Amino acid sequence: MRVLITGGAGFIGAHLANRLMERGVGVRVLDDLSSGDPTNLRPGIHFNRGDVRDLPKLWSLLQGVDVVFHLAALVSVPASVLYPREYNDVNVGGTVAVLEACRDVGVQRVVLASSATVYGDQPQQPVTEEMAPNPAVPYAVSKLAAERYLFTIGRLSGFETVALRIFNAYGPGQPLPPTHAPVIPLFMQQIIGRGSVIVFGSGQQTRDYVYIDDVVEALISAATASNVDQQIINVGSGQETSMRQLIEQISATVHAQASVIENSEASGGIQHLVADLTKARQLLKYKPRTLLAEGLRRFYALDPRFGAKAMTGKASAA
Ligand SMILES: NC(=O)c1ccc[n+]([C@@H]2O[C@H](COP(=O)([O-])OP(=O)(O)OC[C@H]3O[C@@H](n4cnc5c(N)ncnc54)[C@H](O)[C@@H]3O)[C@@H](O)[C@H]2O)c1
Repeated sequence: MRVLITGGAGFIGAHLANRLMERGVGVRVLDDLSSGDPTNLRPGIHFNRGDVRDLPKLWSLLQGVDVVFHLAALVSVPASVLYPREYNDVNVGGTVAVLEACRDVGVQRVVLASSATVYGDQPQQPVTEEMAPNPAVPYAVSKLAAERYLFTIGRLSGFETVALRIFNAYGPGQPLPPTHAPVIPLFMQQIIGRGSVIVFGSGQQTRDYVYIDDVVEALISAATASNVDQQIINVGSGQETSMRQLIEQISATVHAQASVIENSEASGGIQHLVADLTKARQLLKYKPRTLLAEGLRRFYALDPRFGAKAMTGKASAA
């Protein structure tokens, strides 16, 4: 099998590329390096720097490719509120470009990394794929639009399509940008550095944190499983964790007490979000293997920015 991974130098993409490479799959990566880092990719992976909206580049990279994993996107929820046009351009326009190129060249299947944010606030938890989406921020709208284009262009053009709604992925190599950083690496860094962590809202809001290895296994299954055409599938841990519980677990992992500043006036975002995994179990034979305590332990131990390897170099996406 030969695959193209757009956004393959990013957090999830590099883990996916390296795992596929280990399994003998031919891997091409297209990434503009707006946030990714190609040095996270193993030797032998064919890396191409470029924009996912560049059709001629896509045409040439897609020659001989069976499956496309479309991961390239802008990924910050707060940044999408500030720059909705840019999020629309890259996340929606980029998806349409990839699909158009797949139609032109002819591939078997496209797997889209969609997001649990499309659910927004829901009256019931855990959320199932049948629930009506309720996106509350431009990032979520862009992911929902990407799903719709995926299924529509796939159906019209005769290639298979599947969208994974990924919940909060975490693990070694996860980017830690200076603004809008994801909560787990941010809190880990702050607690290790004896800084304060700021909790927005009540601190009782819950999320579903899923370890990177489980996300990668789900993506690989989505590329090979039968009966997944035109399907939306949740990929989470199935475990609901509040912000308070998360801080306690991170403190226990890094053996340091967290100093918490509460900002209850500010919004903590969606109140609750946890995945129902029935469909993932049925269609992908998916079973999350790494519970939060173990995932945090591995993140802390394996990521050179933290823990035992802190002085040895850069983050690993192995
Ligand atoms: N990390 C999560 O918790 C999570 C949850 C749900 C969905 N997702 C989705 O999974 C995918 C990967 O997310 P991630 O966490 O690895 O983020 P990431 O930022 O690490 O990876 C995204 C990659 O896309 C690249 N990229 C951005 N714009 C591009 C463009 N115009 N052309 C080419 N490449 C471009 C970036 O350089 C980066 O390497 C995204 O589509 C994201 O929406 C992630």
